[in-house]
Amino acid sequence: MNVHKRTAAREAADMVKSGMVVGLGTGSTAAYMIERLGERVAEGLEIFGIPTSDDSEDKALKAGIPLTDFSAHRRIDIAIDGADEVQRGSLNLIKGLGGALLREKIVAQAAKRFVVIVDGTKPVDLLGERAPVPVEVISFGWECTAERLAACGARGVKPRTDRAGSLFVTDTGNMILDCHFGPIEKPEELAEKIDRIVGVVEHGMFLNMASEVLVATPDGVEHWEP
Ligand code: A5P
Repeated sequence: MNVHKRTAAREAADMVKSGMVVGLGTGSTAAYMIERLGERVAEGLEIFGIPTSDDSEDKALKAGIPLTDFSAHRRIDIAIDGADEVQRGSLNLIKGLGGALLREKIVAQAAKRFVVIVDGTKPVDLLGERAPVPVEVISFGWECTAERLAACGARGVKPRTDRAGSLFVTDTGNMILDCHFGPIEKPEELAEKIDRIVGVVEHGMFLNMASEVLVATPDGVEHWEP
């Protein structure tokens, strides 16, 4: 168990109130949040969840959280999710090392409040310091898409595979190209360039989206706001 991820996750889950529609993130930190929400639902909390992945949907159903979707609810009151990197100051994020970045971004964009939960290993001075930027692309012509990403400065662009070496396919049936840019000085400019490439569905830079970040460290939980 990762105590710090769990601490941040449980604190965020305790921000949820009855009557809310809740975006349910993906990953090991979000799993602790789903677990805590399940406990609170058993105690009487009345919410609906919108999961950001098939995996989170399974976890939410097992935890007893009632689910809904965008056909019934266009707006989400609060979305809670992990991140792979959080930039100090701006609270820009890299997400998607779990492969769910597309649904995660749709849910974050629909949320009035987007709360990010991380442990102390995730903050960075510049995005890209440690994590690659995952880029979800359609499989047709991915070789050309990869060349265009390389022209934006990405190194070692290749399709993500699973541990067995099989091609990783997202919940929406696309591929992920992990793009190593190194420290990114101007994320908005890079995001615009990537957005212009035909074949790109979405990238894992979440810029100006987080409402707050809970960073759990051995000294306690810090609350960061942009
Ligand atoms: C899933 O696609 C990701 O965006 C996760 O939110 C991110 O990888 C954080 O994962 P952990 O909570 O497992 O560190």
